[in-house]
Amino acid sequence: MVAAPELSSTNLVLDRPDTFQVHTRAYMDADVFAAEMGRIFGRTWVYVGHESQVPAVGDYRTTTIGRQPVIISRHEDDQIYVLLNRCRHRGSVVCREELGHSNFFRCPYHNWSYANDGALVGMAQASGYPGDFDKGEWGLRRAPRVAVYRGLIFASLAADGPSFGDYFAPVQKYVDWWLNRSPAGTITVLPTAHKYPYPGNWKWQAENGHDGYHGNYVHESWQRLLERAGEAPVRDIRKYRTGGCTRGFAFGHGLLERPGGLNPNASWTGRMMVRFPEYAEALRATYGDDEIEQISARRNIFVFPNLYLFDTQIRVINPIAVDSTEVHLYVYGLDGVPDALNQGRYRAHERFYGPSGFGSPDDVEIFVCNQTGLQASGVDWVLLSRGMHRERVGGDGEVVGHSTDEVPVRAMYREWERLMSA
Ligand code: FES
Ligand SMILES: [Fe+2]
Repeated sequence: MVAAPELSSTNLVLDRPDTFQVHTRAYMDADVFAAEMGRIFGRTWVYVGHESQVPAVGDYRTTTIGRQPVIISRHEDDQIYVLLNRCRHRGSVVCREELGHSNFFRCPYHNWSYANDGALVGMAQASGYPGDFDKGEWGLRRAPRVAVYRGLIFASLAADGPSFGDYFAPVQKYVDWWLNRSPAGTITVLPTAHKYPYPGNWKWQAENGHDGYHGNYVHESWQRLLERAGEAPVRDIRKYRTGGCTRGFAFGHGLLERPGGLNPNASWTGRMMVRFPEYAEALRATYGDDEIEQISARRNIFVFPNLYLFDTQIRVINPIAVDSTEVHLYVYGLDGVPDALNQGRYRAHERFYGPSGFGSPDDVEIFVCNQTGLQASGVDWVLLSRGMHRERVGGDGEVVGHSTDEVPVRAMYREWERLMSA
C-alpha cells in the first residue's frame, strides 16, 4: 500500500445543511492524490475486470488498482486470482501484455517464472540460491480479497475492511436490473477497450458520468445533429433529459436514472421489444412485468471509486497522477439476444462514446476546462449543492433527487472524506 500522509480530517469537503463544497486541493494537490492512492484505492473494493474477459484457464489481463499494476488470471483450479504485477526478485512487472493466454508469467529481467496463481515455480540459474531457498515464500503477492458478483470482479488490497456484500449492497438491485436486460442475465465483454487519457484529475470523470445537468449544454451539438438527421427534435430530447432522478448511496455509489417503460417511442427497451419480438418473448419468459419495467429504465451506475456501468459499456477510471487520468471503455454484448440487437448497441456506442463520437470527446474537453479553471487563485471551493433543498432521504439512507441535481456527487465526496479522514 502507498504510504499516506497523516491527515486527521481533510478539511476539503464542506458538508452543511444548505451548502456542499469541495476544495480545489482535492483536484490539484499531489499530496492529496498520494493519500487517495493509499486511503481509497489501497483500501476499498476496486473493480478490476469481468469474468468473460478471462474465460479459459490460462487467460489473463493486466490492469491497475489505483496506480498499482495487477494481473487478473484464471488458474488451473478455474479460480480467478488478482496478482500484484511485481516480480519478487527486483520488482519488474512480470507481465507486459494487456491480455493473453499463458501457462506462466516469466519476468523479463532475470527469468523468474510464476504460475497463474502467482506461485514461484522457477528461477534462472537457481544454484545462486541455497538449497533450502523457500520458493513458497516468494510468489507474486495476491490481492488479499477478491469478490465476483455476476461476472464483475472486484479486489481489495486491504485484508480487512467492509465486506464486499456490505459495500455492494446499496447498488446491488440496480446492477441486477442492468444485467437483466439480458434474458440470460449475463453479458460478454468484447476483448479490447477504447481508451481516452486526459490531463485532469480522475474525479472529473467520476463526477460526470451521473451528472444529469450538463447534457443540454456540453452535448448541444449532438442534440442539434439528431434534430437535423430527423431522429428527434431538440425540445423532445431536452424534455427526456428532465425525467428520471439521481440517487446517492452509502459507500460513495450513485446513479443517474432515466425513465423506462414499454412505450417504444419513449424507451430503448420498449423499442427493442417491438423490433425484436424474440427479445420481448425471452424477457417475458424470464421476468415479470414489474421487473421488466425496472429493467427498461436507463441508468448510469457509479460503483465507487472507479467503475461506471453504462448501457453499452463498462467504464473504468484509472488515476495516473493528480492531473492525469486514463479512462477505459469496455463495450459488452447482452447474452441471449439477437445479434442484430447487439450490433445496433455497438453502433450507437461508437456514435456517442467512440473516439470520433459526438458525445464523450465533448465531456473530455470539459475535464480539461475544469483542471485549467482551477489554476485561477482566489476562489478555493467548487459548489456541489445543487438540489440539496429538494432531495429526499429514504429509510435505507438512499438519497433521491431531481435528475439534474448533484445528489450522487455528494454521496461520492461524503465517502471520499470518510476514507481520507479515517
Ligand atoms: S526482477 Fe524479476 S527476475 Fe529479476
Ligand atoms: Fe456528457
